[in-house]
Amino acid sequence: MGEWVIEPATAEALSDILQIEEACFSAPWTRKMLEAELSGNPFAHFLLAKRVPPGDVGAVSIVGYLCFWVVFEEVRLMNLAVIESMRRKGIARALVIQALEMGQAQAARCAVLEVRASSHAAQALYHHLGFRDVSIRPTYYTNPIEDALLMELDPIATESGLLAQHIHREGGPITSRQ
Ligand SMILES: CC(C)(COP(=O)(O)OP(=O)(O)OC[C@H]1O[C@@H](n2cnc3c(N)ncnc32)[C@H](O)[C@@H]1OP(=O)(O)O)[C@@H](O)C(=O)NCCC(=O)NCCS
Repeated sequence: MGEWVIEPATAEALSDILQIEEACFSAPWTRKMLEAELSGNPFAHFLLAKRVPPGDVGAVSIVGYLCFWVVFEEVRLMNLAVIESMRRKGIARALVIQALEMGQAQAARCAVLEVRASSHAAQALYHHLGFRDVSIRPTYYTNPIEDALLMELDPIATESGLLAQHIHREGGPITSRQ
């Protein structure tokens, strides 16, 4: 199976990210949009999940990513995807938790995101992490036209130590090189 790691993205990853983006979304970001987030936006951060096959460090591949902004007190989750064959292994959860921690380190207190009303997997992931539904933004998305659900985690650090619990649960496979 192999392990996976989470690392900050570099501009060289652009083509791989674009490929995953186009496979995972019906209205994907363009190369230009991704490029702007990777190198032109001072608020933006980009994390990669990379699969590292055991004993073959030369065959590392990108299997997921998360783009997020830290804007003063707010972490804004912008774009998250994991390739189909690597889903349900906790990769998206680890990416989001790392983003929330990075936001906290920059004094962010809450996190927000919009998600397609039909993206039940993503909503389940965010609910699992403690996000709550805030409101609906009608016809927010195109191709297909669809409502957005606005979700929020406020505050990021819950009294029950939500993030710490998840990190503890992840255990073995994650090696953060952050
Ligand atoms: C949404 C997505 C990023 C989830 O990635 P993932 O790595 O498979 O998610 P994780 O393994 O970290 O899941 C963590 C938890 O989220 C929930 N979850 C994730 N996928 C789910 C699904 N298909 N159905 C129900 N719950 C799901 C579960 O609670 C899961 O925990 P569990 O496996 O212990 O039950 C992935 O399905 C994807 O890339 N989808 C297409 C793009 C997309 O919709 N992106 C989100 C835009 S906001």
